Amino acid sequence: MRISALAPVLLCAAALVLSFLCLFAGSKEGFMDDYPILTLNTSRIGASVLNASHSSSNPVISFIDNVTNSVENDINQDLSSLARALGLHDFYNVHLLDFCEGYYTPSPVPNTTLPRRKIHQNVTSCSNRTAMYSFNPRNTLQQELNASGHGDIDLTSNLDWPADVDKGLHALVIAQKATFVLYCVAIALIGVATLLALLGMFSEGRMGAFVNVLVDWLAFLAIGLASAIATAVAVKAVHVVNKYGDHIGARASTGGKFLVLTWVATAVMLVASMVWCFECIVGRKEKRRVSRKGYVDEPRY
Ligand SMILES: *[C@@H]1O[C@H](CO)[C@@H](O)[C@H](O)[C@H]1NC(C)=O
Ligand SMILES: *[C@@H]1O[C@H](CO)[C@@H](O)[C@H](O)[C@H]1NC(C)=O
Ligand SMILES: *[C@@H]1O[C@H](CO)[C@@H](O)[C@H](O)[C@H]1NC(C)=O
Ligand SMILES: *[C@@H]1O[C@H](CO)[C@@H](O)[C@H](O)[C@H]1NC(C)=O
Ligand SMILES: *[C@@H]1O[C@H](CO)[C@@H](O)[C@H](O)[C@H]1NC(C)=O
Ligand SMILES: *[C@@H]1O[C@H](CO)[C@@H](O)[C@H](O)[C@H]1NC(C)=O
Ligand SMILES: *[C@@H]1O[C@H](CO)[C@@H](O)[C@H](O)[C@H]1NC(C)=O
Repeated sequence: MRISALAPVLLCAAALVLSFLCLFAGSKEGFMDDYPILTLNTSRIGASVLNASHSSSNPVISFIDNVTNSVENDINQDLSSLARALGLHDFYNVHLLDFCEGYYTPSPVPNTTLPRRKIHQNVTSCSNRTAMYSFNPRNTLQQELNASGHGDIDLTSNLDWPADVDKGLHALVIAQKATFVLYCVAIALIGVATLLALLGMFSEGRMGAFVNVLVDWLAFLAIGLASAIATAVAVKAVHVVNKYGDHIGARASTGGKFLVLTWVATAVMLVASMVWCFECIVGRKEKRRVSRKGYVDEPRY
């Protein structure tokens, strides 16, 4: 029995758990819902409407006029309650299988007495889990406007939701679907690698170690590629939202915790395959030593 093969078994098992967590993080409320790929912060949406260029025929303006008797400055300070009154949420956390939404507590915007680190996300609900999921904020926000009885407000024409954001995110749909597929492939390969590592504990041969190296490398490539594409999607989407959405009060940020999780899974898989490489080489040397001991009279060189 090869005790040294216990290390890759543990490493593969760890990578398996981590990649499972990547895939299922945020798949329901309360389950790692603070591990999004990216966060869309819409708490200030409507900021551009207050810039007076809109006629009073804009239903958002008449809504503000009807609901609040306050002057624009007050509304400006309390834009998030405008978004809430329209049925929108403060933030949308995008995960691999769904999105979760909720409100910032105690308030979305930091100030002198409220540092950013004291602002917490309060997730209220998550969408249904979907394979090959891709986030479409335009549809989601419009649906929420409709659902709260503000179907007369059109996200594009009344809240100035930029078409460039839609275009930029649309370009990422394929990559987002590919990410899902790659995570599934990676999980399958890491699962096989874990089983093979278990078997490898009971086989001394170099062949076993070699097959393990091969499968571990494939699994490492799959999880590495999945992580790379997920990172690229997050960075690109955040860039698009912040570039085109800033003036209407939409902001996005990449999910640091998720990215750490997925890259740690990748690193663990890399280490596992390196351990098997080492096994391959050391295994050979040990065999030579044993055989030299066995046939002292006939050195092999
Ligand atoms: C209104 O427009 C001015 C300049 O056009 C800009 O500096 C300001 O930030 C805008 N305000 C909001 C709330 O968008
Ligand atoms: C605002 O009030 C006017 C008249 O009071 C009404 O016709 C209009 O439908 C109201 N608009 C909204 C968005 O509630
Ligand atoms: C900062 O925000 C909090 C929460 O909205 C509010 O209670 C507090 O008065 C604000 N402080 C300042 C200095 O504006
Ligand atoms: C989070 O939201 C729920 C319901 O929306 C509320 O009951 C709860 O108090 C909120 N939690 C915090 C910390 O504000
Ligand atoms: C989510 O799933 C539930 C139950 O499976 C279903 O009733 C509901 O319509 C689904 N919602 C969406 C938006 O698909
Ligand atoms: C919202 O309602 C409008 C009409 O009120 C409809 O045309 C539109 O398709 C709806 N959008 C969504 C996403 O449900
Ligand atoms: C949300 O976005 C607004 C600007 O749109 C920003 O001022 C605020 O700090 C953001 N809140 C969080 C918690 O990131």
